[in-house]
Amino acid sequence: MAGGAFTSTGGETHYEAKITFTVIISCIMAATGGLMFGYDIGISGGVTSMPSFLQKFFPEVYKSTQEHGIESNYCKYDNQYLQMFTSSLYLAALVATMFASSVTRKLGRKQTMLTAGLFFIIGTVLNAVGNTLIVLIVGRIILGCGVGFANQAVPVFLSEIAPTRIRGALNIMFQLNITIGILIANLVNYFTAKIEGGYGWRISIALSGVPAAMLTIGALAVYDTPNSLIERGQEAKGLAVLKKIRGVDNVDAEFEDILKACKVAKQVKNPFRNLLKRHNRPPLIIAICMQVFQQFTGINAIMFYAPVLFNTLGFKSDAALYSAVITGAVNVLSTLVSVYFVDKLGRRMLLLEACVQMFVSQMIIAVVLGLKVQDYSQDLSKGFAMLVVIMVCTFVASFAWSWGPLGWLIPSETFPLEARSAGQSVTVFVNMLFTFIIAQAFLSMMCHMKYGIFLFFSAWVLVMGLFTIFLIPETKNIPIEDMNEKVWGQHWFWKSYMDD
Ligand code: BGC
Repeated sequence: MAGGAFTSTGGETHYEAKITFTVIISCIMAATGGLMFGYDIGISGGVTSMPSFLQKFFPEVYKSTQEHGIESNYCKYDNQYLQMFTSSLYLAALVATMFASSVTRKLGRKQTMLTAGLFFIIGTVLNAVGNTLIVLIVGRIILGCGVGFANQAVPVFLSEIAPTRIRGALNIMFQLNITIGILIANLVNYFTAKIEGGYGWRISIALSGVPAAMLTIGALAVYDTPNSLIERGQEAKGLAVLKKIRGVDNVDAEFEDILKACKVAKQVKNPFRNLLKRHNRPPLIIAICMQVFQQFTGINAIMFYAPVLFNTLGFKSDAALYSAVITGAVNVLSTLVSVYFVDKLGRRMLLLEACVQMFVSQMIIAVVLGLKVQDYSQDLSKGFAMLVVIMVCTFVASFAWSWGPLGWLIPSETFPLEARSAGQSVTVFVNMLFTFIIAQAFLSMMCHMKYGIFLFFSAWVLVMGLFTIFLIPETKNIPIEDMNEKVWGQHWFWKSYMDD
């Protein structure tokens, strides 16, 4: 590392950098990719619980939601096509991710975000005008392509543009925007469900045009990252942008570190084969496991299907949508907790505390459902319904200050530059794969496993707690291009992977 222009305290290194206006604005703009993703996550659950939507596209499901005793409470919504309306987006995102890595590397972070914005706009238009289930699903597939590109480029953009000491906090802007997107979607559904005439669901879907336009304009306005410019041979421009975003003239140390990382990156011919090299395996294994774990917390059972789940418990349509707004709000507020603590308490502490909290709340939900929700009987009593909502909020809160944001942050900051785009692709790919699985399977799993579904998720939470204790290293305050030396090279288990 070049000397002079950085300070080092107790193993933590900082380059000279101010938190400039350009950095803040760039991050806000880029993070609207998260807003769009969140809106897509949050909108489908409410829409699929709206009677007018069900009546139009899923008449059998509509019938079983209207009459007690036809179908078990737990099975009312068990319909593969209904689940496909939600899940198709994630399947498409998964495929798009396979291309997103080379686009991010060859065309840069900025162009990739722009591409995502355009996909979002086209998908939204199709969804807003579609009159058949097929057109709606095609629209969701195109939105999914946008998600694949945005989730690839935005976290990498944020990690590269942020000064080290606030990298965690800025990166969580992405997650914060996901949660804000989900909350806005919940709120929109709450109001559009009340619109007479049965077309409220269409407004819900069409409003995703707003975040789509914001991302597109944002992508046009921001600078590409110095890392990406330099990687693509534009050294002088990269240096100029680095000075501009850091707000200081002396950026030599950081510039040299980026150059060094680029030199290594240039020697890589096949980025995906490179990912499998021994020294890249620790971040790769952690990225993959964190995505699987993140989805098997069961978070998206709540995010996608909260209104449906609350309906299942006997809440009326309005109360179900209202409760989804409450969980959505808890999600946003708790993510703010993470923004504050992630660079102070560190990543591990947040992950571990959350495992305990998630485990306890899921066990309580399982017990209440097990004892109180019978297959064909009517509603849960008010007190128990309240307890379930509180426990769902307790669960969502802990996810939101830990595995939610950190599931994206840790992979985006632990791969060396030569493997960063490819690593991020694998991260998004695995996330989308397991998001797809939960979206497609949850309602059927609930039908078969009943309250046991929450025991299933809590068992996963135990596994992820143990994984964190032994295998996830602390990356708080370590410069992004120093991870190999300062993190993996020092870890009791992963250091043996650093020999090459
Ligand atoms: C996850 C999403 C989830 C969201 C909830 C994100 O980190 O990737 O699957 O819906 O958090 O806030």
